[in-house]
Amino acid sequence: MSAQIIDGNVIAERMQAEIAAAVQKMKDEHGVTPGLAAVLVGDNPASRQYVGMKRRRCAKVGIDSFGYELPATTTQEELHKLILELNADPKVHGILVQLPLPDHIDEEAILGAIQLEKDVDGFHPVNIGRLAMKGREPLFIPATPYGCMVLLDEVGVQVSGANAVVLGRSNIVGLPAAMLLLHRNATVTICHSRTKDLPAVVRTADILIAAVGRPEMVKADWVKPGAVVIDVGSNRIEDPTAEKGYRWVGDVAFDEVKEVAGAITPSPGGVGPMTITMLLKNTLRAAEMAIAKAGK
Ligand code: GUN
Repeated sequence: MSAQIIDGNVIAERMQAEIAAAVQKMKDEHGVTPGLAAVLVGDNPASRQYVGMKRRRCAKVGIDSFGYELPATTTQEELHKLILELNADPKVHGILVQLPLPDHIDEEAILGAIQLEKDVDGFHPVNIGRLAMKGREPLFIPATPYGCMVLLDEVGVQVSGANAVVLGRSNIVGLPAAMLLLHRNATVTICHSRTKDLPAVVRTADILIAAVGRPEMVKADWVKPGAVVIDVGSNRIEDPTAEKGYRWVGDVAFDEVKEVAGAITPSPGGVGPMTITMLLKNTLRAAEMAIAKAGK
């Protein structure tokens, strides 16, 4: 039987409509517009595209976005100074520093300079530390793994007690996804480039999160029948038959795996739209916290 297809576009649209309504209510009741500062350093074309997409979605739900495009030659001190200015700016409720940063910038120091209450990306060392610890809660959860968890909840899979396998251990997706699953009492295995007999480990998964950036790596015979498969991968591959000469695929061989899995996200159209949605949700939450703190 073919898997349930988890449509990230539909879920994201529904959530964004809810966020837009909450933003409007905040404007009406408190005279406050949530604001996101988006900081881009250097000229990585993919990063520029992501930041543009995030800012357009902000506009769509009524969130103000303030763009800061800095040259690749920006110094640590200059970037640090900007973060401190944004920390102090009451119109800015959330600060997003698009990653990766140029090599000469100390990423940890910059992320650590963001005021905790404005860390809508959830990458501040304190937020990540809380995510890593039992019984602690971060103020914000990183957007992509947060989106993965929402998708799991949409299909109603029981996370507690499930065997969850996370493919990939990046700071942005794999690692926080594994920690979130652990918080929800899954038995979690993190796989990476040194993992032995990857297909055998992946076959133990009731829940699989694939975030390795390898086009269509996960095959049908890697997947336990009935498993829930969340594909974070977004890989451009050459395809002479496609109009543009290329197309986008995930880390999972979707056409074959959907015949085995119980539920599966497509890529594109699964996790991608959720990532931006969760950033919007975090920004709204940051503004709500600022209002509560100010007693407005
Ligand atoms: N680079 C890739 N994904 C992300 C993300 O979710 N946030 C930031 N800040 N940078 C990224």
